[in-house]
Amino acid sequence: MEAEETRHRPVLLEEVLGYLNCRSGQVYVDGTVGSGGHARAILEKSCPTGRLIGLDWDEEAIKRARENLAPFGSRVDLAQKNFKDIASVLKDLSVGAVDGLLLDLGVSTEQLEDGERGISFLRHGPLDMRMSREIKVSARDILRRLSAAEISGILWQYGEERWAKRIAKAIVRQRQVRPLRTTGELVDLIQKTVPWGKGRIHPATRTFQALRIRVNDELQNLQTFLDRCASVLNPGGRLVIISFHSLEDRIVKSHFRRWAKKEKGTFPSFCILTPKPVIPSLAEVSANPKARSAKLRAVEKLSWKTEGRQNGGSGL
Ligand SMILES: C[S@@+](CC[C@H](N)C(=O)[O-])C[C@H]1O[C@@H](n2cnc3c(N)ncnc32)[C@H](O)[C@@H]1O
Repeated sequence: MEAEETRHRPVLLEEVLGYLNCRSGQVYVDGTVGSGGHARAILEKSCPTGRLIGLDWDEEAIKRARENLAPFGSRVDLAQKNFKDIASVLKDLSVGAVDGLLLDLGVSTEQLEDGERGISFLRHGPLDMRMSREIKVSARDILRRLSAAEISGILWQYGEERWAKRIAKAIVRQRQVRPLRTTGELVDLIQKTVPWGKGRIHPATRTFQALRIRVNDELQNLQTFLDRCASVLNPGGRLVIISFHSLEDRIVKSHFRRWAKKEKGTFPSFCILTPKPVIPSLAEVSANPKARSAKLRAVEKLSWKTEGRQNGGSGL
């Protein structure tokens, strides 16, 4: 496979298609449509009449998806929306319920590589980190306004940064002279503040990850989506989520377990299709290092006909 083609191959593509069990005549939602990589494959697999509704809160992503998915014509609807608003989006489109839901969480390669977004510590740009322009508070605002204790809490909670207190204090000391404005300034400050050994990850990695999660409210969006999505799935419909962070995976796992639990006097509403998370093969990770921390989990909504089915197949 060509290097360029591999780089843009959606993460865990075959697994997503298998667990979604894509078929013609069904309706799918890709809540993180990005450039439309997974969406395109879902449309191809559900040919000739499968329908795809693609959401992304990033205007640029929606523009790219619109271009890339144009050949599928009226089988595609795209909307610039937060996936946590799934229920109202479907209502606006007069869609009652769907047969498959996909979330491929986190940032896209395009967002990471766009220096103006300020998401990557490897690109010089403003300290912004917003994935959507509708978010009002940037990373720069957070580092200007919050106390050292609050900043340290963010770095520890979302980045598990062991030097959180030290970095937070250095940020607050620096802003008394001149607040940080760019990714490069924050990287310099971290490099001067914490020890950096050879062979370890870059010392700014965890701080950047933690700030991005906080700026975009990533964990809360996922929680809200999970609280709302069950009602928009048809019986037999499937939900597939790819996460890249242990906190996200924990949220997904605990929701799925709760849904699949048989309480006294009630039936479980879902069955778990992935008793263990599915991870990419070594070949996928070596072709696309971004995939290395991906974990896929999937569930199927039960109907009275399928009640009691446990750990069903992926359909792969
Ligand atoms: C990893 S990329 C998805 C790539 C996509 N699966 C593909 O194949 O091209 C994640 C996308 O999710 C979007 N995103 C993240 N959080 C979101 C949210 N709460 N609502 C809508 N889109 C979100 C990001 O803007 C980004 O475009």
